[in-house]
Amino acid sequence: EKCVVAVDGPSGSGKSTVSRRLASRIDGVYLDTGAMYRAVTWAVLQAGVDLGDPDAIAKIALETELSIGTDPTAPHFAANGVNVDAPIRGAEVTQAVSAVAAVPSVRKHLVALQRAIIAGHPRIIVEGRDIASVVAPDADLKVYLTASAAARAQRRSSEDAADVAATQADLARRDQLDSSRKTDPLRQADDAIEVDTTGIGIDEVVAYLLNLLNS
Ligand code: CDP
Repeated sequence: EKCVVAVDGPSGSGKSTVSRRLASRIDGVYLDTGAMYRAVTWAVLQAGVDLGDPDAIAKIALETELSIGTDPTAPHFAANGVNVDAPIRGAEVTQAVSAVAAVPSVRKHLVALQRAIIAGHPRIIVEGRDIASVVAPDADLKVYLTASAAARAQRRSSEDAADVAATQADLARRDQLDSSRKTDPLRQADDAIEVDTTGIGIDEVVAYLLNLLNS
């Protein structure tokens, strides 16, 4: 039977790890919408486009051919035939992604791709910032993951070995941009279940969500 789970939340809230494990546990696929915005941002940077020029950004976004992996154990991404798994996690893309994600026609284009992928898979966990509110408002389960700013920075810096204070500052910068943009800002959907993951193990969060799905 069809099962769509929306997992939204800010950076470092545990979204990716939780979503991937949950997808594996239900024999479903995993869609990382943040990686889609990151892959388009990589293409925009490759093209040398001015980040202050939304029309130029939109043009590149529409021209970029994305290959979007949905295997929860190995979600590989390519843009224009180039594997971008490493560069989309780099500092340059992270620095630029919020500006690219704020362009309305970029969002429109990626949301349409996301909906097509969701329609093509019976069981799918979709991770992002606007999944419950915009991409899949009819999802069977909507989760909003949170954690304290310190816990989020701690997690993220242990993933990429960066300085915790610098990471916390970067997350705060991105949260501010993502939640203040005019088109589909990051927000908790009214019917989403909030899970604060501060000090809670990933396994516990996954078990809790599996319980919700089975009840
Ligand atoms: O994992 P992390 O929170 O660092 O970021 P991500 O999920 O990879 O998303 C990167 C950026 O893409 C976010 O900071 C947002 O600007 C944007 N994004 C978005 O606008 N809408 C989504 N559904 C997912 C990501």
